[in-house]
Amino acid sequence: MTGSDLRKLNIGILGCGPISQFTHFECCQKGKNVHLYAICDEAKDLVERMAQIWQPEKVFFNYDHMLEDPELDAVIIATSDAFHIPLALKAVEAGKHVLVEKPLSHSIEECEKIIEATNQRQVVVQVGHMKRFDQGFQFAHDFIREKAGEIIAIKAWYGDNTQRYTFTDNLQPRPVRSLLAIKPGFNEKANLERYYMMAHGSHLLDTAQFLGGKIGALQAHLRHQEDLWCWFIHVDFESGAMGHLDLTIKIRGDWHEGFQVYGTRGSVFAKTFNPWFYKSSEVECYLEEEQIFHRPLAADGFSYRRQLESFADAIISKQPLSGTTLREGLEITRGMLAIHQSIRDSSSVHLDNLRYTAL
Ligand SMILES: NC(=O)c1ccc[n+]([C@@H]2O[C@H](COP(=O)([O-])OP(=O)(O)OC[C@H]3O[C@@H](n4cnc5c(N)ncnc54)[C@H](O)[C@@H]3O)[C@@H](O)[C@H]2O)c1
Repeated sequence: MTGSDLRKLNIGILGCGPISQFTHFECCQKGKNVHLYAICDEAKDLVERMAQIWQPEKVFFNYDHMLEDPELDAVIIATSDAFHIPLALKAVEAGKHVLVEKPLSHSIEECEKIIEATNQRQVVVQVGHMKRFDQGFQFAHDFIREKAGEIIAIKAWYGDNTQRYTFTDNLQPRPVRSLLAIKPGFNEKANLERYYMMAHGSHLLDTAQFLGGKIGALQAHLRHQEDLWCWFIHVDFESGAMGHLDLTIKIRGDWHEGFQVYGTRGSVFAKTFNPWFYKSSEVECYLEEEQIFHRPLAADGFSYRRQLESFADAIISKQPLSGTTLREGLEITRGMLAIHQSIRDSSSVHLDNLRYTAL
């Protein structure tokens, strides 16, 4: 942490690709308890351009060198999914805290490795499912826990749409690319069933467990026609609640995300926006005893910055994480594998009884 202000965490961002350009650099600049200490990428041209704009104290072209810096407190791992665990492990072994982009991993073994390594050290590792820091989600979450009574059913849906880049290209700066950027040795988009599950399904599973707790079993169905993919997933939560998850990619229509929760004392309805609108979910929580809807303004829609501030807070004040933990990251990986297995076997799958160990 910086000498001048002990409440600010010195962050190093690993990876200067699109997600860092769209959000992580800005989060470090605007976050109240963080300091953009360093940036790192093996693509030298990219680091140099980003350093001109964001003015970190230090730049690195080699990750090991960044980790050797004693002033560095934490890293944000913003690289391709395939590198998340090996790079997070290096940081943990160097005694640095980690915010790793979602999804944690495609493999149970990898998740278990990082859990074990983290348990042996005094470091915090959080998975970057930023929707938990959408103020609307947080209001709904608290209402469900404190007021809605016993939860009987949860429906959640996540639909990316055909026109999403028409929206986001207008909202985001055009990312600077580099031919030197390190990519995994395979085309991540060659298998779209896998790619969509990792990119989008992981968010939906995180929403489901944030609202409903651990998933015990599920049964999934997939239909795919042209470039329209639709998963309908029946879920049994360990709490006894049942759930229906709908993951649809390339909806011919608007971005389509939200959830409904039915409890014995109240209910919740939420409409979630494309995250790049920086607008919190519109949430209505109805309480039967009052016969009133509660609807927060939730003015601070910058969920990515709120995620980073909460991560830093957990480290500075030694509080439990409120973001996605490694165990929850592992449960998401199990959920993705159970969906894969359920489709192949046309049967219900218990998450503790998986035939596949990697997606
Ligand atoms: N939370 C969200 O809403 C959200 C949205 C988009 C992307 N993401 C996630 O962000 C991650 C990154 O996405 P991206 O599109 O920016 O990736 P990218 O592959 O385009 O960029 C990653 C950068 O990291 C660098 N890099 C990789 N390994 C390195 C190493 N060992 N040392 C130094 N530099 C290294 C690469 O050179 C590249 O410049 C992905 O996991 C993706 O799933 C999350």
